Amino acid sequence: MTSEESIEEQTSDLIDQVHHEHEHLRRLFDDLATRFADIAAGKTGADSQDDLVATASEDLEVALEDMLHHFNQEEEVFFVDMERRFPELQSDIEALVQAHEEMTQRTRWLHKQLSKEPEELTRELEVIVDVLRSLSELVDEHTKNETELFDTVLNKIPADERRELLETMRQI
Ligand SMILES: [Fe+2]
Ligand SMILES: [Fe+2]
Repeated sequence: MTSEESIEEQTSDLIDQVHHEHEHLRRLFDDLATRFADIAAGKTGADSQDDLVATASEDLEVALEDMLHHFNQEEEVFFVDMERRFPELQSDIEALVQAHEEMTQRTRWLHKQLSKEPEELTRELEVIVDVLRSLSELVDEHTKNETELFDTVLNKIPADERRELLETMRQI
């Protein structure tokens, strides 16, 4: 990786990577909120409600893991690095961490529900839909705030250091 071109390629990769992950998570939770709401509303087609709940729950479990992994990468790599470089951003970063906490709490609650049998889950569908919808809204809002901050900050970090950041992030 010696030419400027390849460094640039790798650099835009970090910014793209962050955008890609945010879009991925936003869409995932949006879709899941809609799917659970449809099931709760009885839009089940030919499939049994319990089967749909079981499948949607498995997908939700994967989405929750993806989200927690993403938070971890941000808190252990991006936020630490950003705070070191730009101490003036401390309160912005604290607000982002606070939002992670709120989303993690809802995530834990959902995790707990998902360990129940589909029949029991089906009975609790409405409250699950509410929590999932509020989580989805939080993900949306958080992504917006975070993207604004990241776009400003990442462009101020030298290209080779952004590449190192990406590599460190991938180790988590
Ligand atoms: Fe993020
Ligand atoms: Fe975040």
